[in-house]
Amino acid sequence: METVVSGIRSTGKLHLGNYYGAIHNFVKMQEKYNCYFFIADLHSLTTHPHPDNLHQNVKDILVEYLAAGLDPEKCTLYVQSDVPQIAELYLFLNMNAYLGELERSASFKDKVRMHPENVNAGLLTYPVLMAGDILIHKATKVPVGKDQEQHLEMTRTFSNRFNRIYNVDYFPEAYAFSFSDKLVKVPGLDGNGKMGKSNGGANAIYLSDTPEIIRKKVMRAVTDGGPSEENSSKPEPIQNLFQLISLVSSKDTYDYFNHLYNTCQIRYGDLKKQLAEDMIIATTPLREKIIDIASDKDYLHKVARMGADKARESADRTIKDVKEIIGFRQI
Ligand code: ADP
Ligand code: TRP
Repeated sequence: METVVSGIRSTGKLHLGNYYGAIHNFVKMQEKYNCYFFIADLHSLTTHPHPDNLHQNVKDILVEYLAAGLDPEKCTLYVQSDVPQIAELYLFLNMNAYLGELERSASFKDKVRMHPENVNAGLLTYPVLMAGDILIHKATKVPVGKDQEQHLEMTRTFSNRFNRIYNVDYFPEAYAFSFSDKLVKVPGLDGNGKMGKSNGGANAIYLSDTPEIIRKKVMRAVTDGGPSEENSSKPEPIQNLFQLISLVSSKDTYDYFNHLYNTCQIRYGDLKKQLAEDMIIATTPLREKIIDIASDKDYLHKVARMGADKARESADRTIKDVKEIIGFRQI
């Protein structure tokens, strides 16, 4: 059976971008594949979180994974830092990861641009740690959103390089996976780019947002003065709202507003009201489960311990092989 690995950084609560881009696929994949899903708390260290925030974020994401439908009996669900073998593999892979290729990564360049005061080595080698996450279980399929494609290309470079250097056929190639035919990019509410945690949370709808918050955020989404010609193409902020409608609303709703747009009769206030209500319908069951699961400390503890044990077992096998291949042998 093919092995699947994916993770989400513990930098805050999950939003609809994470849900439709990644978790939606996790939930389906656990039925069919040997799945490892984790919380990337080591990756979150690049931004130097306060210890209390780090802990709270890890707990929040575990709760939200479970609320979204990840079943710890069907998949291996764990916290990255509970599996030290990942950090060990990261160290080995770092020896064959080169400055030039790491500096060329689009996400590294973005981060340097946004936070020139914090260009640390962990940020530079972020894709190597991600390759460690994937290769530690020798995964071939990685459910992620479109923004992660380049990281997976780097993972393939590192695994192929390892195989070549040691003349083995040990690590397989990992590819991005989505049940829909292309990788998803969920737009944000601020008119440009993807939904994400930037912009103080106003750009994203979180799974735990209350109906009031959702209505407020959606009503503030960026729009324009409306089309002045029939059947004109949609500028990005408007295209984004339609894309969000296509994710959470029915096809009829999409067609209705699309017709109004094409005939220059659209009223963005009405469109936003409908979008907010459909987002509330999509997230309410999740929010209710989040509140429920968060209160069950014993269950969360049990899930985390069980996942760590299962993940370490698989990781240990890989590290033993890798050390043997590299030449660390008992004297
Ligand atoms: P964020 O961008 O909010 O920091 P992460 O980078 O931690 O979120 O992303 C976690 C997962 O969710 C990744 O698989 C990523 O591809 C996916 N993801 C995040 N935002 C989006 C989005 N707007 N559209 C599609 N997928 C997304
Ligand atoms: N880099 C991913 C992100 O920002 C998170 C991640 C870390 C990941 N390790 C991974 C995703 C391994 C898939 C597989 O979203």
